Amino acid sequence: MNTIMTRPEDAEDERMYAQAAEILRRGGLVAFPTETVYGLGGDALNPEASGKIYAAKGRPSDNPLIVHIADTGSVYELAENVGESTAKLMEAFWPGPLTIVLNKKKCVPDTTTGGLETVAIRLPSHPVAMRLIRESGVFIAAPSANLSGRPSPTTAQHVRQDMDGRIDMIIDGGAVGIGIESTIVDMTGDIPTILRPGYVTPEMIRDIVGDVMIDPAITSMDTALRPKAPGMKYTHYAPKGELTIVEGERLAVAATIRRLAAEKLAQGFGTAVLCDTENVGLYEGCGQVYDAGSKKNEITISAGLYSLLRECDDIGAQYIYSESFEEGDMGYAIMNRLIKAAGHRIIKGGNEE
Ligand code: TXA
Ligand code: MG
Repeated sequence: MNTIMTRPEDAEDERMYAQAAEILRRGGLVAFPTETVYGLGGDALNPEASGKIYAAKGRPSDNPLIVHIADTGSVYELAENVGESTAKLMEAFWPGPLTIVLNKKKCVPDTTTGGLETVAIRLPSHPVAMRLIRESGVFIAAPSANLSGRPSPTTAQHVRQDMDGRIDMIIDGGAVGIGIESTIVDMTGDIPTILRPGYVTPEMIRDIVGDVMIDPAITSMDTALRPKAPGMKYTHYAPKGELTIVEGERLAVAATIRRLAAEKLAQGFGTAVLCDTENVGLYEGCGQVYDAGSKKNEITISAGLYSLLRECDDIGAQYIYSESFEEGDMGYAIMNRLIKAAGHRIIKGGNEE
């Protein structure tokens, strides 16, 4: 399959959207930017299209897809028992990076929901996503547009690396703003439950609806706990090299990373370090050092995280050491992704000579 690459700012804007919309209506696949990560879109109510999405990603078909809509009213076409708290969340955070899980209506096929009786719905704020949904006239099922197990794409080039030849079209809307996937909140139980942390924090949700729980499987190291978002159980976002997170006091962390990187370099391995902007100077001689952004402005970290993990692959880094970025509001979501990428390999910095 020849994958069309296109940009909305091209002179042929109108034609591009018309073509993308037509592909979606015919059951084809179009990758497009959202404010979180790039999505791999297909008609959410067409089982054949969702089948194609799973195939293109190499994704297990028990892992349900998020349905993207362009106006709040669409929720009532897709979901049942939409309560007052849900309405408040939609009002507060849509359009934006919040996905809401609700009881599905019959029109949503099992292939889209991975056989679940619930459906995950999101109204993205990215103008390209909004226009595409509107012009196509379909609800767009869209997982992140990466091959299963790879970091989510935050640029059209990332999508191309993974999806060239596998899908009909990629719309290049430039680099995304947030860089990690939407917060998922399950509204089907008594208490709203966060199934995946993201830009919208538990505190922000609590401010709107009062009580909020966090799915214990997200934070626990106990792998026997089954996350309620099926996708959270897979090893995700993994770079090819072995990633280790080093926690602790700033200088102790740096000393430990320097020692570990030096050992691996001496053995002839390629190494990379991910650190706070402020700490770049601490890692001279550690191989490739990446400025991962600043904890003082966490979106600088989330926006570039997946791109850096991909870059570590591109340069063939066999051992990657990262500082911990646990701190402010989004630190929790950032660390959730980083810890998964590290396969839970976390050590304490310190005790250096
Ligand atoms: O930011 C995002 O949400 C991006 C952009 C493209 O919108 N999409 C995204 O989709 O991250 P994906 O497929 O990579 O992740 C969807 C997650 C998976 O963990 C999946 O298991 C969970 O949402 N999910 C989908 N439907 C669900 C449902 N009915 N109940 C529980 N979890 C659900
Ligand atoms: Mg994904």
